[in-house]
Amino acid sequence: MLVLGIETSCDETGVALYDSEKGLLGHTLHSQIKLHAEYGGVVPELASRDHIRHIIPLIDRLLKDNSIEITAVDSIAYTSGPGLSGALLVGSTVAEAIACSLNIPSIPIHHLEGHLLAPMLEAESPSFPFLALLVSGGHSQLIHVKAIGDYTIVGDTLDDAAGEAFDKTAQLLGLGYPGGLALSNLAEKGGPFFTLPRPLLNSHGFNFSFSGLKTAVLTLVKKQEVLNQSIKANIAFEFQEAITDVLVKKSFLALEHLNLNQLIVSGGVGANKKLREKLIKLSLKNNFKVSFPAFEFCTDNGAMIALAGALRYHLSAKNDFKYTVKPRWRLSEI
Ligand code: KG4
Ligand code: ZN
Repeated sequence: MLVLGIETSCDETGVALYDSEKGLLGHTLHSQIKLHAEYGGVVPELASRDHIRHIIPLIDRLLKDNSIEITAVDSIAYTSGPGLSGALLVGSTVAEAIACSLNIPSIPIHHLEGHLLAPMLEAESPSFPFLALLVSGGHSQLIHVKAIGDYTIVGDTLDDAAGEAFDKTAQLLGLGYPGGLALSNLAEKGGPFFTLPRPLLNSHGFNFSFSGLKTAVLTLVKKQEVLNQSIKANIAFEFQEAITDVLVKKSFLALEHLNLNQLIVSGGVGANKKLREKLIKLSLKNNFKVSFPAFEFCTDNGAMIALAGALRYHLSAKNDFKYTVKPRWRLSEI
C-alpha cells in the first residue's frame, strides 16, 4: 500500500511517500524558520499562508522525483491535530480534497503518534512494547507504547516542554528562534563553571518541570557583569547538562518501573547530541536498548505521518471525506 503523508501542524510543510512493503520512498520538506525568526516565534497566520504557498508544489515535486503518478497512491495520511488550527486546516483540506478526487481513503493522524513511531522509519525498527521519551517544542512525555494506538502516558511536563525550555533559554542568550540547535552548538564550546538546578530529579513519579530552570538561567544571566561569548557558552553548557540529566534519569526510572528494556527517543529535542550520548552510555551500562530516529525525522516531517498512516490504515482509514482539525488533542483520546 502506498501512502502519501502530509504534515502541516506548525511551521514545517512536510510530505512523504511510504510504501508498506518497500518502506520510505521519499520525503520533502519546506521549513518556515526564516519566516518566523524575526518575530522570535511562530506567527500562526503567516504559517497558514506559507503552507498554502508550498504544499501543492512540494507534493508535485515529491511525486516527480520518485516517478510516481498521484493515481498510484492508495491512501492519504495527514496531521489533523494537535497544532495551529489554520496550519492544520491547510494540510487537512488538501489531503481530503486529493482523497475525494481519487476516491481513496484518508487517515487523520495525531501529530505526537507520528513522532512516537518515527524511530520505526529506521532499518533497525524497535518492536513493541517500548518506552518513548517524546521531547518536542510543545511536549515532554514518557509514554508506555504497547501497540499501535495503545499508549499510556506515564510522565508529562507540569509546565514548559523541554524544547520550549531550550528555545526560551536560547532567546535569553540572544541565539534567535528556534534556539535548541544553536544552544546545543554553543554548549559544545562551554564547560562546567556554573550550577543550575535539576528540577524534580529526585522526586517520585516521572513528571518534568522546566520553567524553574529557565528562571534560574535568567537570574544567572542578570548576575553577569559582562555576557560575553565564553560566559554564554558556559551557561549553555550547564543548561544542557541540567535538562539532559533530568530527561535521562526519569526515562531510566520509568523503564525500570515498567520493566521494559527498550527506549525510543523522539521529537525535536531527540536530535540533541548530549542527550543521545548520555542515553547511549546509560543503555550500555544497564543493558537496555535505545533508538533514535535519524536527525531529519526528529523534528516535524511528512515521513513520520506517512508511516503512521501505513501502520494505522486498518484502524483509522475512512472514506467519507469529512474532516475536522483538533488544535487541542490529547494522545490518550485517540
Ligand atoms: O518536534 P519539533 O520539530 O516540533 C514540535 O512538535 O514541537 O520540535 C521542535 C523543538 C524546538 O523547541 C527546537 O528548539 C528543539 O526541538 N530542537 C532541539 C534540537 N533541535 C531541535 N533542542 C535541543 N537540541 C537540538 N539539537
Ligand atoms: Zn512535532
